[in-house]
Amino acid sequence: MANVRVERRGKAAILTIDRPQALNALDRPTMEELRAHAEALNQDRDLVCVLLTGAGEKAFVAGADIRAMLDLAPLDAQAHSEAGHALLRALLHSPHVTIAAINGYALGGGLELAMACDLRIASETAQLGLPEVGLGVIPGFGGTQRLARLIGEARAKELMLTGERIPAQRALELGLLSKVVPKDQLMKEALALAERIAQNGPVAVRLAKHSLQRGLDMPLDAALAFEAACFGACFATHDQKEGMRAFMEKRPPKFEGR
Ligand code: CAA
Repeated sequence: MANVRVERRGKAAILTIDRPQALNALDRPTMEELRAHAEALNQDRDLVCVLLTGAGEKAFVAGADIRAMLDLAPLDAQAHSEAGHALLRALLHSPHVTIAAINGYALGGGLELAMACDLRIASETAQLGLPEVGLGVIPGFGGTQRLARLIGEARAKELMLTGERIPAQRALELGLLSKVVPKDQLMKEALALAERIAQNGPVAVRLAKHSLQRGLDMPLDAALAFEAACFGACFATHDQKEGMRAFMEKRPPKFEGR
């Protein structure tokens, strides 16, 4: 049975995780399904943004599926973690801008999924956290690494080692979210953000994300060299000529994504 829905809205696609019986928790089939959709969307050159959300009112994703992990042997658990990393990599290195629209609980693997997205906006009722240590395990879908990179080591350690759940407003203050909105406005705001991004030069948006994302894993000098190469590549595009000419001619640009 399909646990992930895909919808197109102009230059955006919406992926909705839909496993209400487990608050959208990620079991292996759902992870594989989500990854297959993400990889297929990565090939779609008409898209600019991919939005990720959870079905229902209560949860974005309540974590990796605990029931499915209960009796895992160590090597199977390692493989499970690696499958999670592969899924998150499909989002992190997507040519599109990925936006998590966090409509409720984003816990454990759910928060890790959201952290692999480029942008995160949440409804004011959402709660976020890495409760894994309370289950006797550690975050296994990138949480031990990405949280510290996003909010700094001290705050990440506090959140991860206490396993505490925090409300969206606190996550906003910590820099984990870029916006908190009323529950009934979440998808509208997420789509408006996608729409705003899609008005820019598509190749430039892709290269800007690529330069920032890949650069994070490099020493600064190498990252700056990579930025210079990406900057140079922009000048091979129609969109650079159009964008700069439109500015000089005081008119809106007509980007073609090439
Ligand atoms: N896995 C499997 N099932 C889950 C689940 C999960 N992560 N989270 C919720 N469910 C199931 C519950 O077992 C329950 O099922 P039943 O009706 O069959 O009993 C159903 O969803 C509804 O959940 P609750 O009755 O618990 O709902 P609640 O409103 O009382 O509480 C909640 C909501 C606080 C989110 C609570 O469900 C909860 O704490 N869930 C677990 C959160 C968690 O620990 N996530 C981390 C998982 S480990 C992980 O993610 C590892 C990793 O990094 C890879």
